[in-house]
Amino acid sequence: MTRRLLRSALAVAALGALAACNPFAGPAAGSRLFTENCAGCHADTGRGGPGGPDLTGIAARDGGFPQRAVLDRLDGYARGLMTHVDSEDMPDMSHLMTGRLMHVDLGPGASRMIPERVVALTSYLESIQR
Ligand code: HEC
Repeated sequence: MTRRLLRSALAVAALGALAACNPFAGPAAGSRLFTENCAGCHADTGRGGPGGPDLTGIAARDGGFPQRAVLDRLDGYARGLMTHVDSEDMPDMSHLMTGRLMHVDLGPGASRMIPERVVALTSYLESIQR
């Protein structure tokens, strides 16, 4: 196993452990948030719809689920630092910030406070990879 793979495996394990101790950050909570906020474009199953691409093939395409990149993307999006889609249809996602923040270990020397709703959505997306 290369060091990079090992590190991402450890990060995944850490996120899984955090999610296991915190029901608000696990895949079940993420699934509800997904239905409310994302399914309109990505479909209920995450397999894609008219407004957004299939989200179940990210791991296959990237050679493993890019947990850090997905967390960063959704975090930026929740904080209004990034626009997800350049479209007027894109709903405001700032309410993803309204839950608690949690400390997430992102690998050696890297950790951050991330909204638990963002962690939950990332856990959910990870759980639906094919
Ligand atoms: C208005 C429609 C729309 C909504 C709502 C929406 N998305 Fe998307 N999403 C898109 C489109 C279009 C793309 C492809 C363009 C891009 O990457 O920005 C995309 C891309 C993505 C990607 C990158 C996929 C990849 O292949 O790397 C992720 C992850 C994602 N969306 C997650 C979410 C999540 C989680 C939510 C809910 C919080 C959400 N999206 C809500 C339309 C939407």
